[in-house]
Amino acid sequence: MTEHIEVFSDRAAMIDRAFTITIESIQTAINTRGRAILALAGGSTPKPLYEKLATSHLPWDQIYIFWGDERYVPIDHPDSNAGMAKQAWLDRVAIPEANIFITPTLGNDPAADADRFNAQIANFFTPATGTMPIFDVVMLGMGDDGHTASLFPQTAALEVTDRYATLGEKSGEPRLTLTFPVLNRARTLLMMIAGANKQTALTQIFAETGDDRQYPSRRLRQTHNELWWLLDADAAIALPTS
Ligand code: 6PG
Repeated sequence: MTEHIEVFSDRAAMIDRAFTITIESIQTAINTRGRAILALAGGSTPKPLYEKLATSHLPWDQIYIFWGDERYVPIDHPDSNAGMAKQAWLDRVAIPEANIFITPTLGNDPAADADRFNAQIANFFTPATGTMPIFDVVMLGMGDDGHTASLFPQTAALEVTDRYATLGEKSGEPRLTLTFPVLNRARTLLMMIAGANKQTALTQIFAETGDDRQYPSRRLRQTHNELWWLLDADAAIALPTS
């Protein structure tokens, strides 16, 4: 694993860097394997990155989009991660609909839809038995409690290692999420973290020792490849490197 920690004066500078890394990773993937497979982050931080990507000129038919996690709501719900990414980016570029894999949340049965999410990943990647699918870029954020994707503190989803996607929960609210083994196989893991409210959790993430059930983002440091921590100054101020 190669871990990069970069701190930026403000959120806009952090997003600019995330954009550059994303474009480079997409181009490397297409040049090497003929396609780029992404898993997008939810929440609010990545929206300006998606808006910048909407102005890019990329071979959209060679780019495939999944989500790292999704709230259990329809795509037209204001909380939908897919709805936000489509409005900010995907509906503005010529990416084929067939290349966009919306996380299934319409079955009114979160556990069954988690199985469908898992099957969506399995059918696309067809990984050999015992191996994990490898995304080219997984974009992630981190909550002020140290969660990432929908892998929340002290939840069962943290320990799921025999599936690609599973049912998570936030204070009882169902979420669908990729599992840590999949996140940690990504060729490029891009963590975008901004805001003073993330300081405490970030300090715990980078502490020499800590509880990775209480601060799940710590587990991303077990990743196999490139891990980018892109932080704004407000979030990073309490880190020893700052
Ligand atoms: C979600 C995200 C979640 C998010 C963090 C940070 O569905 O909410 O996947 O993991 O990345 O909660 O959210 P903000 O970017 O809004 O701070």
